[in-house]
Amino acid sequence: MATPHALLLLLLSIFISISTSSPSSDQDLLLTFKTSINGSLQSLSNWSPTTPTCNFTGISCSTSSPPSITSLDLQNLNLSGSISFSSLCQLHHLSQLNLAHNLFNQPIPLSISQCTSLTSLNFSNNLLWGTLPDQFTQLTFLTVLDLSHNQLEGQIPLVLGSLQSLQVLNLGSNLFSGSVHPSIFANLSHLIHLDLSKNPNLSSELPVELGKLSKIKRIFMQGCGFLAGIPESILVLHELEVLDLSRNNLTGRIPLGFGLGFPKLVSLDLSQNRMYGSFPAEVCYGKSLQELSLHANSFTGFVPDSIGKCSSLERIQIQDNEFNGQFPSGLWSLPEIRIVRAENNRFSGELPDFVKVPSLLEQIQIDNNSFTGRIPKGIGLINTLYRFSASFNGFHGDIPDNLCDSPVLSIIDLSHNSLSGSIPDLRKCKKLVSLYLADNSFTGSIPLSLAYLPVLTYIDLSSNNLSGEIPQELQNLKLALFNVSFNQLSGRVPFSLVSGLPASFLQGNPGLCGPGLPNQCGNTTSAKSSRGSRLIFAAIAISFAFGFMVLALGLFVVYRLSCKKSQTSNWRSIFFYSLGIREDELLMSLDEKNIIGRGIFGDVYKIKLPTGECIAVKKLLNSSKLPFRTAKTEIRKLAKTRQQNLAKLLGFCHSESVVLLIHEYLSNGSLGDSLCSLESPLDWRVRLQIALSAARGVAYLHKDHSPRLLHRNIKSNNILLDMDFEPKITGFALDHVIGESSFQSILASEFDSCCYIAPEQKCSKKATEQMDVYSFGVVLLELITGKEAEIPDPTGSIDIVTWVRRKINMTNAEHQILDPNISNSFQQEMLSVLELALCCISVFPDKRPTMFEVVQSLQSVYTGFQSPKFDSGESSISIEH
Ligand SMILES: *[C@@H]1O[C@H](CO)[C@@H](O)[C@H](O)[C@H]1NC(C)=O
Ligand SMILES: *[C@@H]1O[C@H](CO)[C@@H](O)[C@H](O)[C@H]1NC(C)=O
Ligand SMILES: *[C@@H]1O[C@H](CO)[C@@H](O)[C@H](O)[C@H]1NC(C)=O
Ligand SMILES: *[C@@H]1O[C@H](CO)[C@@H](O)[C@H](O)[C@H]1NC(C)=O
Ligand SMILES: *[C@@H]1O[C@H](CO)[C@@H](O)[C@H](O)[C@H]1NC(C)=O
Ligand SMILES: *[C@@H]1O[C@H](CO)[C@@H](O)[C@H](O)[C@H]1NC(C)=O
Ligand SMILES: *[C@@H]1O[C@H](CO)[C@@H](O)[C@H](O)[C@H]1NC(C)=O
Ligand SMILES: *[C@@H]1O[C@H](CO)[C@@H](O)[C@H](O)[C@H]1NC(C)=O
Ligand SMILES: *[C@@H]1O[C@H](CO)[C@@H](O)[C@H](O)[C@H]1NC(C)=O
Ligand SMILES: *[C@@H]1O[C@H](CO)[C@@H](O)[C@H](O)[C@H]1NC(C)=O
Repeated sequence: MATPHALLLLLLSIFISISTSSPSSDQDLLLTFKTSINGSLQSLSNWSPTTPTCNFTGISCSTSSPPSITSLDLQNLNLSGSISFSSLCQLHHLSQLNLAHNLFNQPIPLSISQCTSLTSLNFSNNLLWGTLPDQFTQLTFLTVLDLSHNQLEGQIPLVLGSLQSLQVLNLGSNLFSGSVHPSIFANLSHLIHLDLSKNPNLSSELPVELGKLSKIKRIFMQGCGFLAGIPESILVLHELEVLDLSRNNLTGRIPLGFGLGFPKLVSLDLSQNRMYGSFPAEVCYGKSLQELSLHANSFTGFVPDSIGKCSSLERIQIQDNEFNGQFPSGLWSLPEIRIVRAENNRFSGELPDFVKVPSLLEQIQIDNNSFTGRIPKGIGLINTLYRFSASFNGFHGDIPDNLCDSPVLSIIDLSHNSLSGSIPDLRKCKKLVSLYLADNSFTGSIPLSLAYLPVLTYIDLSSNNLSGEIPQELQNLKLALFNVSFNQLSGRVPFSLVSGLPASFLQGNPGLCGPGLPNQCGNTTSAKSSRGSRLIFAAIAISFAFGFMVLALGLFVVYRLSCKKSQTSNWRSIFFYSLGIREDELLMSLDEKNIIGRGIFGDVYKIKLPTGECIAVKKLLNSSKLPFRTAKTEIRKLAKTRQQNLAKLLGFCHSESVVLLIHEYLSNGSLGDSLCSLESPLDWRVRLQIALSAARGVAYLHKDHSPRLLHRNIKSNNILLDMDFEPKITGFALDHVIGESSFQSILASEFDSCCYIAPEQKCSKKATEQMDVYSFGVVLLELITGKEAEIPDPTGSIDIVTWVRRKINMTNAEHQILDPNISNSFQQEMLSVLELALCCISVFPDKRPTMFEVVQSLQSVYTGFQSPKFDSGESSISIEH
């Protein structure tokens, strides 16, 4: 009887001692580990004796009993110090360790070799330096090793090759040097992902043993110093999905049969090497080696069963090499192919007709080769095509009428060919940004339809044989480049089209006349034309006078009506704050003499309250007759939008015809007024602070407010300044107050003159955050240049976006853009903000940053950190021909 009891007790006590002592010793080990870590340790504040070990930040335990620690994940915590693993490695079940994205600045600690239970080690994105120690070999269970983005140097040690379980090996973006020992890969037969990219000091042949990596899916070896040719051994890597060997010093030919064994290859990048020879026709084409040899034996009629072997290929980038010979035409008909970049080689051949197969092609770049033949009509049928550039080739014939039928086509570059005929009507490609047709033999006139492609920004038609006049309508576009030199154009140059552009863009057209050109207009026909213009003047004057009368009459009638109405119509008001003024007193004070601003949506009145304080009242026409109940719901929502950089909504009055929005009044007027004031230009630092705070206001609407709101009418006149020049944004989300249709029609009436409106807004009715970002970019330009959004010009006006783009594109002198009133010492900051502004006004909406990113970027300029870089995708276009 007693024995089983005693046994049970014994067992129980053993169990208790295990379950209590074991975690507490794990805890001690972790706490010891913690003492070796430095940096912001708040994140590890719960690593204390009072917390159960499995609840420590970053710790995961197994579900076994007692639980054991299996994983430690401390990524992204700004940790530093000089860590020691000797305590940590005593956790015998620890298999995953992730210390990525910290600030560890030390050699790889040798003590890590004691963590023999590790299967995954991620030490990427730290400041590790020194060489990779041989002791790594003791981590024999490692399947994942990520040491990328550090500063490790020396040779890649041969002993890495003994980590035979490795599936992921990432040593990218370090400073490894010397040659890569071929046998490293001899035993890594489980490797799936290999990344040695961006180790510029590696200088090595590609190891033949790569061919042993029979499970490999992704090889990244770009941006290193790999030399010589591609070993044939890699042709058997049947699982390969991505092969990136770009930006190395590879030379030689591509091995015969390349591509046959790659049924899963999705992306191939061999760009920027010095490879030469003909690119073998069977590359990703699908003819089998067997067929090739049969060919050699003069067999014909053989249907290769391997057609479509490379059927997964989506991207091929072989540009900037020295390839020659026929371009492998089978590439064009691969079912998944999207991107073909082969520019700057010496390929010959013709383009296929593209009619038979439905194509997913997005990008075709074959510039600077020796292609011949015609531009196939089928190109226009590829409705995913975004870029078609084929400059510097030998194409002839005319451009098919349907070339521009792809709804997403943005870049057409056919310059420097032998094309002829007239330029077709390009109506459908509403997203066309760049049209380069220079140095061909086009005849006929410049198609008027170009003026109706809203985002068209770069036009180069120089060195052709175009005739006729330059369409006046092109002035609608915000062109950064307009080169028509060396044609047979004639007539008057629409001056605002070319203002700010070099005169050389017009030269070589003896028939053109206008200011700055050798020909002044209207010499021989001066009498006739001046009579003509006088007639036109008179006509304009008369119609103006007539229009004025009608307007006056109309206004009178409206006024009478509204007087009548305002007596009868029932006003209903809601004040969110006590204003100390009654509704009727407020309505009485809406007097002409109290108007302080006139906007497209309505006038703004300044009204003094009995308390001495002032309010601003914006009078909106309720043209879509929004009923009170709806208005109340919507305006209440807006009133709940509280953020220090948004002007506070104090209340509103509603009638059938008018809605009055009551805002706080700010004493320093609007940013627009301040920028115009010549006596006291704002300091740069004040401007930067205004930009930053205003950006926060908009970012709040976009991101933090629920539901998310769009401003839809950002401009400097809608950014008000208080006594301390703290900005408050007003006029937001008026579409909610007056209804979408009224909002759109009012905005549309202002279309052509409004410089703040994103170009895509002309063809898309759906408002987006990116449109707000564009408008904010225009405000930034105003702050940088000290100019208004609409810049007066000898012949009218030009909008600031066009002005800035032309300055940048043509002269590359950003400094000329900066406001001369600001001291040179701020030049760097201003240029950083200019760079941001250029991204905000990108022609491509998805290249614009979000408002949140704008805030971050301005913040970093303000605090003196390097600003994050955005790629507007535009500067790159402007330097292309
Ligand atoms: C530890 O975590 C468990 C499960 O998440 C939770 O139930 C428990 O309350 C936590 N204990 C402490 C002290 O935080
Ligand atoms: C790390 O430091 C950066 C910059 O100082 C800071 O923005 C970030 O919030 C910090 N992260 C943590 C987790 O402390
Ligand atoms: C932690 O940081 C302090 C101050 O930066 C330094 O003096 C100390 O040596 C660091 N400790 C370790 C373990 O690196
Ligand atoms: C390592 O951690 C970083 C940061 O979280 C992550 O991006 C990366 O994918 C991880 N590496 C591996 C191989 O999982
Ligand atoms: C590969 O494995 C063989 C046999 O196990 C062994 O002799 C050789 O040293 C290993 N190679 C490397 C580089 O570890
Ligand atoms: C990398 O190569 C450059 C130029 O050859 C040399 O100046 C630099 O010291 C090398 N860096 C390392 C870490 O070897
Ligand atoms: C690689 O090519 C670059 C540019 O052609 C050259 O400067 C460099 O010396 C080459 N490196 C090697 C290792 O050949
Ligand atoms: C065309 O390619 C060759 C190299 O193949 C290069 O030297 C030349 O500069 C390129 N021409 C243009 C206009 O890009
Ligand atoms: C341009 O057209 C004119 C007349 O149409 C013709 O005489 C001339 O040869 C053409 N020039 C070129 C370069 O094609
Ligand atoms: C007008 O043209 C004639 C020749 O056609 C020339 O003699 C005269 O000087 C020109 N007048 C002006 C004002 O340019």
